[in-house]
Order: sequence, then C-alpha cells, then structure tokens
Amino acid sequence: MEIKNAKILVIGGAGFIGSFVVSELLKEDVGEVVIYDNFARGKKEYLTNQLMDARCSIFPIGGDIRDLDILDNAMKGKDYVICLSAMWLLHCKDFPRTAFEVNIAGTFNVLEACVKHNIKKLVWSSSASVYGDAVELPMTENHPFNNKNFYGASKIAGEAMATAFNDRYGLPFIGLRYMNVYGPHQDQTAAYTGVVPIMLNKIEANEAPVINGDGSQAYDFIYVEDVARCNVDALKSDTKFGMYNVGTEVQTSIKELCDTILSLKMSDLKVTYKPYSEDDARALVQNRIGSRVKAEKELGFLYKYSLKEGLQKLIDWRIDTGIDKLK
Ligand SMILES: NC(=O)c1ccc[n+]([C@@H]2O[C@H](COP(=O)([O-])OP(=O)(O)OC[C@H]3O[C@@H](n4cnc5c(N)ncnc54)[C@H](O)[C@@H]3O)[C@@H](O)[C@H]2O)c1
Repeated sequence: MEIKNAKILVIGGAGFIGSFVVSELLKEDVGEVVIYDNFARGKKEYLTNQLMDARCSIFPIGGDIRDLDILDNAMKGKDYVICLSAMWLLHCKDFPRTAFEVNIAGTFNVLEACVKHNIKKLVWSSSASVYGDAVELPMTENHPFNNKNFYGASKIAGEAMATAFNDRYGLPFIGLRYMNVYGPHQDQTAAYTGVVPIMLNKIEANEAPVINGDGSQAYDFIYVEDVARCNVDALKSDTKFGMYNVGTEVQTSIKELCDTILSLKMSDLKVTYKPYSEDDARALVQNRIGSRVKAEKELGFLYKYSLKEGLQKLIDWRIDTGIDKLK
C-alpha cells in the first residue's frame, strides 16, 4: 500500500516498541506521524529525536484509548493507524479488570473508530502469548491457543474482535504476534524479556547474574528495531488481513543468553541459579519459538539483527547513555 505523504496515528507510540515504530516511519516519505499515548508506561524522553522531525507530534489533548471523543478526534483525517497500546503481562495478572478495559474494550474502541474514519489499514500488536505452552516448535500461526493468563486472553479477544470487524466492515487489519522483544528503553518488569536488562544490570555492577530455574527454558529473542520495521512492512504490504508471528525462529536458552551477554561484556562472572517461585513455575511458558515463514512470504519481513548483534547494539546504547553506570 502507498504510504507516501500518508497521515499515520501511532497509538502507544511513546512506549518501548512504539517509539522505534515512530522512528522507522520517519525514515519513510510519510506526511505526518501523530503519537497517541496516555503515558501509562511510555515516556516523552523516548521520543526526543523523533519529535525534532517536523512531521512528528504528540496528539495535544490527551491520548487514552478508553476516551472515545478524544480518540475520535485523533483519527480525523488519518490514513493509517498502528496500535501498540496495552497493559503488560504482569500488570494484567494483578489487575485483570484493567486488562479488560484497556486491552479488550480499548481495542474495540480503536477498531470502531478505524471503521468510522475509513482507515486504510490497522496494524495491531498482538503477542506470542496467545499460544501459551508449545505443542510443536517452531510455532506456526495455526498453533492452538493454549494461553491461560489474562494478558494472553486479552490479545486473543483483540484478534477475534478485529476478525469480526474485518468480516463485517472490511477493515484491513494485520495482527502481529511478537516473540520476545529486547532493546533500549526496555522495562525490567517484562515477564519474559525483562531478563535482558536484569542480567545487564547485574553484570555491569560486577555481580553474578542469576538465572531462575535451570536455564534450559528457551525463547525466540528479536531486536526491537526489527519489530518496528515489521510494523512498517505490514503497513506497506498489499496484504489486507491476517495474523503473523514476528520472530527470528532461533531458539536461545536463558543459559545461552546469559553466556552471550557475559562474553560480549568480556566478563568472567559465574552464573548462579535459583529455583523458580511456585507461581512462575506454574505460569511461565518454557519454550517458545515462532515460525517466520508466513510473515516473510506475505509481509516481506526479514529480520536483520542476530542475537549477538542486537545485544551489542543494546550494550553500546547503555554505554552511550551512561545507564551502564547507574547502579
Ligand atoms: N515487549 C515485548 O516483548 C512484547 C511481546 C509481545 C507483544 N508485545 C505487545 O507490543 C505492544 C508494545 O509493547 P511494549 O513492550 O512497547 O509495551 P509498552 O508498555 O512500553 O508500550 C505500550 C504503550 O501503550 C501506552 N498505553 C497503555 N495504556 C494506554 C491507554 N489506555 N491509552 C493509550 N495508550 C496507552 C503506554 O503508555 C505505552 O507507551 C503491546 O501491545 C504489547 O502487548 C510486546
């Protein structure tokens, strides 16, 4: 699809992944990028460079997807919407009603407003959490939904609602099921990927990194710039509807992840192990690797950064910003 001179609303654009999506969009010949965010978790400082571009702005009168009038206002005159707003996994666990109000009812509001304003395509952040425990690896998009938590349930509901909006009103929609995303600005409270900043914090403080469990649990880690690029690929592709994994299809155990970080930091610290809490042992998925075939074929998405390259970029960013010394 043509995005030259397009006006694009990025909901959740002040967050970890959203701020990178805004940067990727600004590399294109787009007309306008407006960020809509209630700053529940996002930060204006993630957007310092992006806001120096005259085409980029923050919607001035607030930005909550639960506020129908303001959302309606923000959609006026827009061509496309990328929506990344959501409450995160651990928050949904403790506050299931917010998971419902933001991730489900809020997504409904976004879908409805997109139809009302004839949005040409909505690209929406789903999650690999929809799959829950793996019955086969790599997981294709047809893998059963074994999720058991509120966050995953809210993503399944969002996808199902979008499918109905597509069928009833023809709203073009792409749902992106991200695997484990890591990179600059990442919050330590992320259930699966918080492990990366937590390990780096430890190693940079010259303390032994701690692994929960035996370290054999393995995931598909993808660098945030690749995920952001996939959002733009999804917008530009001629594909009008579908759900897609966004990952590398490379399986990395937590032990291997830790060893890679130690070697990039040239550290000889020894890893220590601690048993899982009962809650984590029950709730956390142990294996998750996503097939990338469908996204490559239908969205033209190819990831660029290997785990080593992505981690090196993250380490360099931490040194440049002085975060590596903030202990
Ligand atoms: N980080 C990952 O590894 C990962 C993996 C799978 C899926 N996802 C999904 O990708 C999306 C982006 O994730 P992220 O890691 O950047 O999270 P994030 O929390 O950094 O970003 C979400 C953004 O949405 C905003 N927001 C929250 N509630 C809002 C509301 N009511 N109205 C408007 N804005 C609101 C937050 O302030 C934040 O800026 C989310 O939908 C998340 O569920 C992330």
